[in-house]
Amino acid sequence: MSAMPSIPAIEVQALGKRFGDFAAVSNVSFAVERGEILGFLGPNGAGKSTVIRLLCGLLRPTSGRITVDGIDVGRDPEAVRRRIGYMSQKFSLYSDLSVLENLQFFGGVYGVPRQAIGERIQDALRMAGLAGHADTPVHALAGGWKQRLALGCAILHRPRVLVLDEPTSGVDPLSRRRFWDLIHDLAADGVTVLVSTHHMDEAEYCNRVALIDRGRIVALDTPANIRRRALDGELVEVRGTPLGRLLEALAAYPPVRDAAVFGNAVHALLARAADEAPALAAYLAGRGIGEVAVARIEPTLEDAFVRMIGRQAQGAGGAA
Ligand SMILES: Nc1ncnc2c1ncn2[C@@H]1O[C@H](COP(=O)(O)OP(=O)(O)O)[C@@H](O)[C@H]1O
Ligand SMILES: [Mg+2]
Repeated sequence: MSAMPSIPAIEVQALGKRFGDFAAVSNVSFAVERGEILGFLGPNGAGKSTVIRLLCGLLRPTSGRITVDGIDVGRDPEAVRRRIGYMSQKFSLYSDLSVLENLQFFGGVYGVPRQAIGERIQDALRMAGLAGHADTPVHALAGGWKQRLALGCAILHRPRVLVLDEPTSGVDPLSRRRFWDLIHDLAADGVTVLVSTHHMDEAEYCNRVALIDRGRIVALDTPANIRRRALDGELVEVRGTPLGRLLEALAAYPPVRDAAVFGNAVHALLARAADEAPALAAYLAGRGIGEVAVARIEPTLEDAFVRMIGRQAQGAGGAA
């Protein structure tokens, strides 16, 4: 990102984690630059949360090494935790307490100096759009507000590294947009962000994305490069009924390199869409498939993901 010659904000080398015989994380390596937003993308069970817990010093790795700001997590987990703001997958606000009481509580947990806490809380309330709601009990807040409050709590100690584990799951699209605006503001101030998601559209807001499957990083690049590289050809969206027979016919047609269902259409990969699409439509009509429509489309990260790991990310239906 910047031309800073300094050490990366996060560096992970050959990280492995076994639970008994099961390898949840295998040989994971990556580095995140200061002010960069790195997205973790992958289906449920891929190992995203495990890498995040290892990074925060909440789990001990079986192998490998992690540094945050050059500090070894294994050697000094306390020092690392002081530098990290962490929102866990089920972020833990106290629903019986008010907005203000939650902020005061987490300020204490994170050791925010007494003389700074008042101003930090005001900043957090402003950032979260909760000014005027300090006395509202958290259980009365809508999901998007809780999420912004949780972020406010996680940054009270002004961490240089922010680690967010699926912060937007179960939150409405408008609140998600707003949340991402906050993340970009923080990154612009030099905060390094590692965020996991299974919303493909959100991965597009990241500087780089790590696709994670079965405990391994299968791709790590900018969203644009991943989209481009994963697909050796051009993509068309094919509509027709019935959908099942459409998919079968496309998979059996030699010019089609790959075909997968997206919503109520099929995405088919061709070497050259302009040459092959008209013949494709005629072929499908000849196979008794009705209402055929073929249109060239730009690949999304979801397309790249399906091509690379052979299935869709769970819960990614919002992107379809
Ligand atoms: N404490 C644990 N003990 C045993 N298995 C675990 C434990 N934590 C996670 N796993 C397993 O490791 C795999 C990765 O889990 P997780 O990191 O939570 O995936 P993700 O966050 O990508 O959904 C899953 O198969 C999960 O069941
Ligand atoms: Mg998880």
